[in-house]
Amino acid sequence: MEGQGEEIKKPTKPKAKAVIVGGSIAGLSCAHALISAGWDVVVVEKSSAPLTGSPTGAGLGLEQSARKQIGAWLRRAQRLHDATVPLAVDQNNATDSEKKVSRVLTRDEEFNFRAAHWTDLHGLLREELPPSVVLWCYGVMCSYGCLSSIRQSFLPDLKLRYSGYCAWRGILDFSGQENLEAILGIKRAYPDLGKCLYFDLGSGTHSVFYELLNKRLNWIWYINQPEPELKGSSVTMKVSSEMIQDMHREAEKVWLPELARIMKETKEPFINVIYDCDPLEKIFWDNVVLVGDAAHPTTPHGLRSTNMSISDAAVLGLCLKKWGVENLHSALHEYQSLRLPVTSKQVLHSRRLGRIKQGLPVAGWQRFDPTTSSREEWQELQQKSMPFFNEVPLPENSSIQ
Ligand SMILES: *[C@@H]1O[C@H](CO)[C@@H](O)[C@H](O)[C@H]1NC(C)=O
Ligand SMILES: *[C@@H]1O[C@H](CO)[C@@H](O)[C@H](O)[C@H]1NC(C)=O
Ligand SMILES: *[C@@H]1O[C@H](CO)[C@@H](O)[C@H](O)[C@H]1NC(C)=O
Repeated sequence: MEGQGEEIKKPTKPKAKAVIVGGSIAGLSCAHALISAGWDVVVVEKSSAPLTGSPTGAGLGLEQSARKQIGAWLRRAQRLHDATVPLAVDQNNATDSEKKVSRVLTRDEEFNFRAAHWTDLHGLLREELPPSVVLWCYGVMCSYGCLSSIRQSFLPDLKLRYSGYCAWRGILDFSGQENLEAILGIKRAYPDLGKCLYFDLGSGTHSVFYELLNKRLNWIWYINQPEPELKGSSVTMKVSSEMIQDMHREAEKVWLPELARIMKETKEPFINVIYDCDPLEKIFWDNVVLVGDAAHPTTPHGLRSTNMSISDAAVLGLCLKKWGVENLHSALHEYQSLRLPVTSKQVLHSRRLGRIKQGLPVAGWQRFDPTTSSREEWQELQQKSMPFFNEVPLPENSSIQ
């Protein structure tokens, strides 16, 4: 986002103007937050039409405060509720791949998240912006989340850091096929589908599984491997039918048959290469400020990406409102000093969580093996162990509506 403190020469009250580069969830949230703070905004997006997906994933989790914040930006907050399904439970099971049995490690029934499909949330945020705020630009600019070119222009030497693993992922749409054996089977094995965020931990691998609105099953399976070579500016890899068949065979070895079956029934699974970035020391330069994945690329294990984007936008809006355009520097400085400590800790925690679950070396830990691990170790795997899980600092004297 580029905030220009330039005033328009009109007799009426001048409005500050900002150009937001990138129209994904962070960009659109920023547009809402800045409009609420009294700014004029325009969002420039490189695609030629509304986006239909995110390079970093389709399903996302929203906690109560994120829902409240988004609700405040929408004319009808109920629309958000209607576009999400509950994730009331956060559960970690250990899968014994040989015996094909699974046991509960942790179960948190006070999780109180809801799951949205990226496209549904993006659509809501977009539809509720005044028309003409978003310009679809036919590929002239690129500021796509973690690959942000704006960040690259200020930090040319900054490199994304490969996590050590990639994720196979897919969404199985089972509408009209509720009685398929694969669906009946998965509902028996995962009785809380539709309200539970399931993690299955194998030896040196793990998967995530939950239901989205409109009879869609979302799964992600992380696999340790050397860094693949990526073509172009995307973190998603094209896969061949041989690769898909290998994945199916491997799924049968590792997971319970019910889950392996869902993976096999999913059309067009794909691979995300998982990156993050060491925390930045700065997220604003003069009148240019980074928000969302551009400011803090993260691995997905802590379900933080959407939260951080929305919190960034909300805090930025509050700081701008508090300080006014004449004190832009103070506003951006406060934004940075509120957000950096939180996002830095959350990115590093998410990194650690992913490494533990993948059985990779982690300082202070034995290589994690779900079948022999201890109760104390399991506690750390819960979503609620995320730093700042219950509260993020806001500018003094303001609160999220
Ligand atoms: C994001 O998560 C934090 C906890 O890390 C929470 O306090 C905050 O309210 C959330 N913000 C939004 C907008 O979701
Ligand atoms: C988790 O483990 C319990 C046994 O502790 C088992 O009953 C349940 O089916 C397992 N859940 C999954 C999804 O594997
Ligand atoms: C915040 O509000 C309190 C009470 O309304 C006031 O005394 C204080 O000066 C305010 N602080 C700032 C930084 O505006």
